[in-house]
Amino acid sequence: MNVLQHRENFGRIILMYGSRSPDDLMYSYNLEEWQNIDGFETFITVDNPTPDWKGHSGIITTLLDKMELPVDDTVAFVCGPPIMFNAVIKEMMDRGISDEHIISILERHMKCGVGKCQHCGIGQTLVCTDGPVYTYRQIKTLGEQI
Ligand code: FES
Repeated sequence: MNVLQHRENFGRIILMYGSRSPDDLMYSYNLEEWQNIDGFETFITVDNPTPDWKGHSGIITTLLDKMELPVDDTVAFVCGPPIMFNAVIKEMMDRGISDEHIISILERHMKCGVGKCQHCGIGQTLVCTDGPVYTYRQIKTLGEQI
């Protein structure tokens, strides 16, 4: 689902986006457009700012301190490398977002893609057939640290 095409179904949409450097930012051509959409808030940070970078710098969890995050009706979609994934989920849960409302896409190197080779196994799940989208509540039961 393209969230922006179904904007009326959502309240606030908040994008927190972290990158290593300004040059590594993907979708830079969309960011300015998204920042001008009513109800769509973007928070961007880079780990290694360049001298001409005017935005926020620091790890992505530092963005949470800049915003008022509604808890009751928030669903967080988290994707990125495991070190970021774990830090962001800890911060979200510390702020009261339930594990059922934190959703992520797990990535594993796949071979067959149809549940035969077991190459994408994480604990008791096969990412290719059971996922790749999981709630954090499900992820916690997989039996393997992500
Ligand atoms: S990729 Fe083969 S079982 Fe998932």
